[in-house]
Amino acid sequence: CGIVGYIGQSSAPSILVSGLKRLEYRGYDSAGLSIVTDGSIQTCKAAGKVAALDERVGTTWTGDDLEKAHVGIAHTRWATHGPPTEVNAHPHHDLNSGIALVHNGIIENYRSLRQRLEADGHTFLSETDTEVLAHLIGQGYKGDLVQAVCDALHQVEGTFGIAVIAADKPDQIITARRGSPIVIGVGNGETIIASDAAAIISHTRQVIYLEDNDLAIVTADGVEIRDFNSVPVTREVAELGFDADAAEKGGYEHFMLKEIHEQPESLANAIRGRLDFNLGSSVLSGMGTSSRDLAEINRVVLLGCGTSLHAGLVGEYAFEDLADLHAEVHQAAEFRYRNPLIGRSDLVVAISQSGETADTLAAVREANQKGAFVMGLCNVVGSTIARETGRGVYLHAGPEISVASTKAFTCQVAVLLMIALKLARGRRYSREQGMHLAKQIDSIPEFVRATIAQNEAIAELARHYADNEHAFFIGRGCMYPVALEGALKLKEISYIHAEGYHAAELKHGPIALLEEGTPVIAIATDIPGKDKTLGNVEECRARGARILGVITEGDEEAAAYMDDVIRVPACDPLVSTIPATVALQLLAYHIARIRGCEIDQPRNLAKSVTVE
Ligand code: G6P
Repeated sequence: CGIVGYIGQSSAPSILVSGLKRLEYRGYDSAGLSIVTDGSIQTCKAAGKVAALDERVGTTWTGDDLEKAHVGIAHTRWATHGPPTEVNAHPHHDLNSGIALVHNGIIENYRSLRQRLEADGHTFLSETDTEVLAHLIGQGYKGDLVQAVCDALHQVEGTFGIAVIAADKPDQIITARRGSPIVIGVGNGETIIASDAAAIISHTRQVIYLEDNDLAIVTADGVEIRDFNSVPVTREVAELGFDADAAEKGGYEHFMLKEIHEQPESLANAIRGRLDFNLGSSVLSGMGTSSRDLAEINRVVLLGCGTSLHAGLVGEYAFEDLADLHAEVHQAAEFRYRNPLIGRSDLVVAISQSGETADTLAAVREANQKGAFVMGLCNVVGSTIARETGRGVYLHAGPEISVASTKAFTCQVAVLLMIALKLARGRRYSREQGMHLAKQIDSIPEFVRATIAQNEAIAELARHYADNEHAFFIGRGCMYPVALEGALKLKEISYIHAEGYHAAELKHGPIALLEEGTPVIAIATDIPGKDKTLGNVEECRARGARILGVITEGDEEAAAYMDDVIRVPACDPLVSTIPATVALQLLAYHIARIRGCEIDQPRNLAKSVTVE
C-alpha cells in the first residue's frame, strides 16, 4: 500500500494523485483521497487503479474545489483485510469528530477495539482494521489532534504508518509510524508526506525519515517531531541522492530483479504458520475441508494459464508422488470448451496470481457448475477467482509488478506442495515422511537464498547465451515443468525463441534443429531419472549444442557433461523445482538485460489478461 499527504499552496488533489501514481507499484486495487475545504472533509474513492480515482476526482469536484484545497491525504491499497471495494478503500473517517486517516500496516487488536467502540455508539462502514483507528482517534479528539493521536496509538497493537487530518485543523497533518515507513519531504512553503520517497522526489530532495514511535506535526512551513508522549525528538534532514525510479524499485534496476530477490521473503510468508511439524502435515484452513472431505477426493484437477499453468504441472507430480492421487492439469482456456469429466469427488485447484484471468475464471465457473470441490490459489486478496471459489489458499507473495511472473510462481509451487502434503497425510504418507517433507518445505527460503547468491556468476554466464536466437530447455519428471517455465521466462523478456521439452522428447523431432552452438539448458538436478537426462544431454552435445546444466551442488558427475553449470542446493526432488526455477529466472533476466530489452513490460504482454 502507499500513502501520500500534502500541505502547501498548491492544489492538493492533483499532487496527491500524481504521488499515488508513483506508488502504484505497491498496490493498485483501490485508492482514495480526502481534502479539507471550508471547515469540512471531502473524500473521493474508487475501486481499481489510481487512474480510476483520478477520473472520479475530475467528475466529483469543481475547479474551484480543487483550487481551494491545500491540504489532503491519499492512499493506494493492496487489499489484505477485506476485499478491494470502494468502501474498504482509504481514507477512513470518524464523521462525528471530522477525522480522516490513511494507514499502512495491520492493527492486530482491531477486533477488541471495534467492539468497545461499537458499545460506545460508533458505527463502522468498512471491514478494515484502519477504520477502527480513525474512530479511536475521533473518540479522544477534543481539539488537540496530537494528543488524540498519541492516546490512540498507545492503545493499538500492530504496525502502522499513518497520516491524519481533522476538519477543523486545515493547517496541519499528523503522521506517525511504527513498523511501516513514513518519509517527509520538506519543500519551500509546502510539505509532502509519503510511505516511499518515490512520491516526494519530484517536489523536493530534502527529506526526514521518521523512526519507529515518531509522530510528526506537519505544516506548510515545517515539521515538528515528537514521541508518542509528546516529548520533542530531533531527526536529521537527509538529501535524496537517487532517482525516483530507483526508489520505486528499492535500488534494483528492474522490478523483475527485485521480485526475484524478494523470493526468500515471499516464500517465507507463503509458508509461515502453515506447517505442522508435529503432525508432519500442513494447516491450510482456507481450504475449508474436513479430513472426511479430503478422504472423499479421488482426483485433483489443476487449472491455470501461463506461468500458473506451469506451477500446476509441478503440482501434478506432487499429488501423484506424495498422495497417490490421480492428478490432471488442464489449460484453463480449454476447460469449458471440451467436456471435462468432473464431479463431486474432484478437487479442482484454480491457480492464478491475479485472480482475474478470464480463462481461469471461466474454468472455475464450469467446475462449479459441475459440482466439483473448487478452490482458488491466488495472490491478490479479494480477487474475482478468490471470491468465486470461496475457499482456497492465498499465496502472500506481495504485489508482483513485473509482467513476467517470478515470486508468484515459486509461492504457487510451495503452496501446492503443502496441499499435497496435507492430502498425502490423509492417505499413504506416514508421520515421519510428513515431518521430513515439512522440514524440507520450511527450508525452501534458505535453498532459494543460496541460489540467488549466485546472481553475479549467472550474470557472467548469461553473456555466452545472449546472442542466440533459439534455445532449448530440457528436463524430466518434475523438472519438465521447470524446463517449460525456464523457456517461457526467456521468451517473454528476451524475445529469444525458446522451447521447453521433455528431455526424452527432444530426440523425436526437435533435435533436428540443433546446430553448432545452439544453447540447450538441461535441468539435471539429482532426482530420479537424472541419468537418463544426462544421456539426453550427450545426444545434444554430439550435435554441437552448448550445454548449460542446472545441477545439484556437489554433483561432479553431472557437471562433467556440461559446458556451463548453475548449482542449486541438494534437497527433496519436488522442493528442488523451486531453486532450479529461480536459477532460470536469473538466467533469463540477465540475458534480456544484455540484449537491452524492456524487462518489466515486455512487448505485447499484459500482467493480467481479462479477456478470453
Ligand atoms: C498473463 C501473464 C502471465 C501469467 C498469466 C496468468 O498472460 O503475462 O505472466 O502467468 O497471465 O496470470 P494469472 O494472474 O492468472 O496467474
